[in-house]
Amino acid sequence: MYKFLVYASLILLVESAGNVCTISTGEINKPANSQPYYWPSSWNENKTAPALQGSQKCTWNVNVPDGYYAKLIVSGKTGDADSEFQFADSAGRVLITTTEGLQPYYFPPRMFIVYLNVINPATFAFKITWMKLPTKVTKASAISSTPQLINATNNAYYIGYSAVTGVSLVSFPQTTKDFYSLRSSLVFDGENLNTNYAASLFMIYQNELQWISNSQHIYVVNVEASTHRDMLLVQEGGYTRDLHYVELNPVLNSKYTANVDSTEKQTTLLSATYIPQTLTDVQILDSTAVVAIIKGTPTPNNRGTEYTQAQLKKILPMSMSAGVVYQFILSNGKAVFSFKA
Ligand SMILES: *[C@@H]1O[C@H](CO)[C@@H](O)[C@H](O)[C@H]1NC(C)=O
Ligand SMILES: *[C@@H]1O[C@H](CO)[C@@H](O)[C@H](O)[C@H]1NC(C)=O
Repeated sequence: MYKFLVYASLILLVESAGNVCTISTGEINKPANSQPYYWPSSWNENKTAPALQGSQKCTWNVNVPDGYYAKLIVSGKTGDADSEFQFADSAGRVLITTTEGLQPYYFPPRMFIVYLNVINPATFAFKITWMKLPTKVTKASAISSTPQLINATNNAYYIGYSAVTGVSLVSFPQTTKDFYSLRSSLVFDGENLNTNYAASLFMIYQNELQWISNSQHIYVVNVEASTHRDMLLVQEGGYTRDLHYVELNPVLNSKYTANVDSTEKQTTLLSATYIPQTLTDVQILDSTAVVAIIKGTPTPNNRGTEYTQAQLKKILPMSMSAGVVYQFILSNGKAVFSFKA
């Protein structure tokens, strides 16, 4: 009995080193004074993340009023690989992580969810600020057979796009390993920013690469400018719906390759960048295969030129202008494309 008591008080002593969150599960509303919300309230972004006790499962439902967006920053790290932090947006998309280093998330109306499930002791804290969504459309653009390539995140904007067969979006982040800057760009499938949220460019890039709207009119809103040079390619969905894309990620002042595999699905290598490049070589690994090179969106009137391996040899090296969209459709088999920038 005595031994048990000593043991129990030892556990208490150890556990009191970290916060618990179970009791703070609940709803968070935007404060009337527009001050940020901190959890725990003693934390701020200039401090290291505080300890969180193990065996915690907590949910915070955060309300985002119409006309506002919420900016969430999180600092924390789980103590084991099976623990997780989750962030769910109002479109029902969920991001699961184990480490957070203050890189912001942005959520439109009307809510988002922060959830954690930690087994071992961890560290965890977050801050939410609510800010007004823009109210003035900066540009309205109709898309048909000519694609548009815009800066995705280096300026704040509120753009309306329309296309009869839906709008196709594909992002080209500046760095493919760390593309969190795409989180500030929010896509609405319809004309209402309070109810038509579809995804952020970040979630689209991470999950499906190409997104095509259901509605003929969409809005893309970048709520905060970053210093990243991410690009967004906008096309008419009817022309690209059946294309299976892999994207070309140029690396300034270097040589790089792209592997394209059309053995199961005919695959298109898609290039859209502000960096001028040169296609230096293509190795088509199946002698029956051809590559079609198309500038812009592949449409019935823009089918490009088809090349066999021997025909390609004659046109290489081929320079590719900055700001021009190139699509390389490999008919079958595999191919390796070599570039320099
Ligand atoms: C954090 O530090 C920055 C720079 O020193 C300061 O401007 C900011 O007010 C601090 N934030 C808080 C919540 O203390
Ligand atoms: C994109 O941003 C760059 C650098 O800030 C600028 O030079 C360029 O003109 C912009 N392009 C478009 C299409 O707005």
